[in-house]
Amino acid sequence: MEDQAAQLRAMARESSFDFGRNAKKTRIITVTSGKGGVGKTNVSVNMAIAYAQMGKKVILIDADLGMANINVILNMQPKFNLYHVITHQKTMAEIVYKTDYGIRIVAGANGFSRIANLSDEDRDFFISELKLLSTADIIIIDTSAGISESVLDFVAAADEVVLVSTPEPTAITDAYGMIKIVSTELEEYDVNIKMVVNRVNSAAEAKRIADRMSTIVAQFLNYKIEYLGYIYDDPVVSHAVIRQKPFLVSSPQSKPSLCIKHLVNRIEKIEVENDDSVGNFIQKLIRRQK
Ligand SMILES: Nc1ncnc2c1ncn2[C@@H]1O[C@H](COP(=O)(O)OP(=O)(O)OP(=O)(O)O)[C@@H](O)[C@H]1O
Ligand SMILES: [Mg+2]
Repeated sequence: MEDQAAQLRAMARESSFDFGRNAKKTRIITVTSGKGGVGKTNVSVNMAIAYAQMGKKVILIDADLGMANINVILNMQPKFNLYHVITHQKTMAEIVYKTDYGIRIVAGANGFSRIANLSDEDRDFFISELKLLSTADIIIIDTSAGISESVLDFVAAADEVVLVSTPEPTAITDAYGMIKIVSTELEEYDVNIKMVVNRVNSAAEAKRIADRMSTIVAQFLNYKIEYLGYIYDDPVVSHAVIRQKPFLVSSPQSKPSLCIKHLVNRIEKIEVENDDSVGNFIQKLIRRQK
């Protein structure tokens, strides 16, 4: 018996995803936008893979259940999702799916609005299961199109928010709209917005857009955003989507791949201040339901 237990412990130690370990610093990044279709899912998936290639344990959460974004890009169909954990049918460990790219994915359930309606017992179960996320180094949450309450939950609760826009005037206007909501409705959450300009033709174009946005939000909203970086407009992105293989893997030397690696390196230079990001994340989500 003892041998078997020792063997199991050794297996757990060796497994790349050991749920038994103590909490450590985890970085939680929510990827969002004002307008839909600007590249959130591609940024999320490829950033997650870039982190995994740096040796980090990454969990990618698809908060966009309806459209099943990540599933499509990675060509996967997870059978169970956060809804099954919320409703006590599955444990967190059972809904974390391995992918071929060294990252793990979790399919979301529309927001967390159900937490408020759960019995004490189910809520405690869900919260204790969510804490298992803290075994990851990086959690990336891909949000759905549009500024809904459920998107704002993830924006409010993350350590960092990557706000994606393209150079299109409509995308820029909607990105401003998102920042406006964050600066007014989510003031108490201290949200950290970092802008990424996707689909540009030059670094100068991206910088110009980001600088103008920084100036305008400082002037009209008294709010500070940072410019994180840009991604070139490049056919490898849509080819990768069609082939259901992330461009970081199918075209690692392409311009968009180098840009993604650059973004990740930039984020990595920023210290994670939270000792218990996942605990804070859960608390903020609960606070948002009140
Ligand atoms: N850098 C890029 N270069 C070329 N095409 C791109 C680029 N980024 C995104 N696209 C195109 O835009 C499409 C939408 O991207 P993606 O699904 O990542 O956007 P999204 O913001 O997640 O959309 P939604 O709001 O619907 O979730 C891609 O399928 C691709 O064709
Ligand atoms: Mg998407």
